[in-house]
Amino acid sequence: MTSDTTIDRDTGFPPPGEPRFDSIAAVRSGLAGVDYLADEGIAGIVYLADRLAKPVLVEGPAGTGKTELAKSVARMTGSRLIRLQCYEGLDESKALYEWNYKKQLLRIQADAGQSWEQLEEDIFAEEFLLARPLLEAIRSPDPVVLLVDEVDRVELETEALLLEVLSEYQVSIPELGTVRATRIPMVFLTSNNTRELSEALKRRCLYLHVDYPDLDRERAIISTRVPGISAELADQVARIVRSIRSMDLKKHPSVSETIDWARTLVVLGVESIGAEQARDTLNILLKYRTDIERASKELVGSDLGA
Ligand SMILES: Nc1ncnc2c1ncn2[C@@H]1O[C@H](COP(=O)(O)OP(=O)(O)OP(=O)(O)O)[C@@H](O)[C@H]1O
Ligand SMILES: [Mg+2]
Repeated sequence: MTSDTTIDRDTGFPPPGEPRFDSIAAVRSGLAGVDYLADEGIAGIVYLADRLAKPVLVEGPAGTGKTELAKSVARMTGSRLIRLQCYEGLDESKALYEWNYKKQLLRIQADAGQSWEQLEEDIFAEEFLLARPLLEAIRSPDPVVLLVDEVDRVELETEALLLEVLSEYQVSIPELGTVRATRIPMVFLTSNNTRELSEALKRRCLYLHVDYPDLDRERAIISTRVPGISAELADQVARIVRSIRSMDLKKHPSVSETIDWARTLVVLGVESIGAEQARDTLNILLKYRTDIERASKELVGSDLGA
């Protein structure tokens, strides 16, 4: 298991490796090449994360492209994406590794008559190890982007475990030894801010707040992600969504809902959104009845309804 890992004895830390990006502009255009439209702030943090070998903690409202950012960085760099989807109750055995007890039992039965020492050596070998995402990312011989998605859902103990892995980029398995990354992977942690993360974890990471895009960027995102949409319709969708986001609603439309709405309009053959089309399709954009009612009323009163 240690064959594809190196130990840098001087620092005890994996070597940083060659920089992945030449400039912030290169990150931005690389991401655009895989259909992710980043602003200067997003591209800047990705650039720094590589140079400083630090994880990025991405926070912001739902559906603003947090998860997609990590996926896109993986695509752009030709890396394997390894995802640890967080949930309440996620523990070491699902995040790091666990032993395959059933297989170990079978070996013990087959080995009946062996000495305990021999048995122990046999059953705590790599073939009985089930690597989970964190270990998988650390020991991967290929370049990796590690996505720890929705990290705010795990308990504090699991967060501490993450912190340990992300500070040392190594995993210690008592029966086998220490596995250290050959190269520090790029790491993205996303959070919807359902609870405050620990100061220690925040300190370890670069912080990126991803908010709703500005009008220009959202228009461009719509044009990129919705095949066959006209520039006029993309513009209109972006403007209406923007005005809906300024309303006092329970839940504002996300970028992904905006894209869904634009796709719906294209499928329905709408060329220009009038009050009627808006009213009939608002349920794609808004998910609360009170929000839909309020938005329809306000939209009809606006230019759109004219
Ligand atoms: N900057 C962007 N460029 C291109 N597409 C984008 C961008 N931002 C968001 N999208 C689109 O929005 C979709 C939703 O994004 P994503 O799933 O990453 O949101 P999220 O922030 O992780 O949401 P949640 O908090 O609900 O998990 C993406 O699949 C993509 O189609
Ligand atoms: Mg997400």
